[in-house]
Amino acid sequence: MSKTRVLTGITTTGIPHLGNYAGAIRPAIQASQNADTESFLFLADYHALIKCQEPARVQESVRAIAATWLACGLDPDRVTFYRQTDVPEITELSWVLTTVTAKGLMNRAHAYKAAVQENEETEGADPDRGITMGLFCYPILMAADILMFNGEKIPVGRDQTQHIEMARDIAQRFNYLFGDTFTLPEAVIEESGMVLPGLDGRKMSKSYNNTIPLFEGEKKFRKLINKIKTNLLEPGEPKDPDDSALFDIYSAFATPAQIEDMRREYANGIAWGEMKKRLFEFLNEELAPMREEYNTLMDDPAQLDRILQQGAEKARDYATPLMGDVRRRVGIGPIAG
Ligand code: TRP
Repeated sequence: MSKTRVLTGITTTGIPHLGNYAGAIRPAIQASQNADTESFLFLADYHALIKCQEPARVQESVRAIAATWLACGLDPDRVTFYRQTDVPEITELSWVLTTVTAKGLMNRAHAYKAAVQENEETEGADPDRGITMGLFCYPILMAADILMFNGEKIPVGRDQTQHIEMARDIAQRFNYLFGDTFTLPEAVIEESGMVLPGLDGRKMSKSYNNTIPLFEGEKKFRKLINKIKTNLLEPGEPKDPDDSALFDIYSAFATPAQIEDMRREYANGIAWGEMKKRLFEFLNEELAPMREEYNTLMDDPAQLDRILQQGAEKARDYATPLMGDVRRRVGIGPIAG
């Protein structure tokens, strides 16, 4: 049986937090172990430039994200793991696709439309204020990421489905003009991914500033767990596990039996201080070995570069001939034929 090619990208902005781990990193690594799939996972660092124009932060993020995925168990021998910018064929393809993409299609992209709308709601503002061509053309670069490897299944969050539809449209257009070249990708929506609450009980997210970094040093990690919001119930008073950020976070890491035991502890009135201590110890035990590996990788950027270079070589074994084929099809292959 031929394997299904699963491909996904991670925009390299920010430093991974506990919510990213439970919601995206852990399930993706588990899925990559499936024997029926061939996985491509890459760091979308050209996408990061659209959101962040601070070089030091761009660089720090790619390093932290690469180290995180490897420390969490991603096996680079099994998964083709690379940086988008190490595969120049992707940006080359992006240009060719730009030439066949209707502007009207890009006008409909949600992220672009939302930015225009925000401007329109501001009295007297130019609707294009602060909107770069990078933001406008973002779906084309994303189509190139996918089509460059003929990705079949694309695991993404719900907010990204429109981009996969656009990649399909663009692939169809190219195939129609130049003959069958690209596989039409399909989105796989990650419903099972868990959503963790953050320090204030709302969804853990960078935009709420309520995150717990995944590989924070132990002391700081304990401090942050102690800051998670609870209520005023006293020790000994029964507490509701279904309305407790501490319980939700615990549950994302515990076995069903451990979760049941913890429900009983809540009914018996476990003190919030005790619960925080238990949660810290529990998480720390799971995360400590990965944190150690993370720190080792962060201290050895040359090793990270080596791993990513090997991934890029594997990726280019596929991308280079396909890009050659694309060039010939559009009429810019070698003059001698
Ligand atoms: N745009 C995606 C996000 O923000 C990341 C991404 C870039 C991606 N290129 C991709 C995801 C290709 C899937 C396939 O989440």
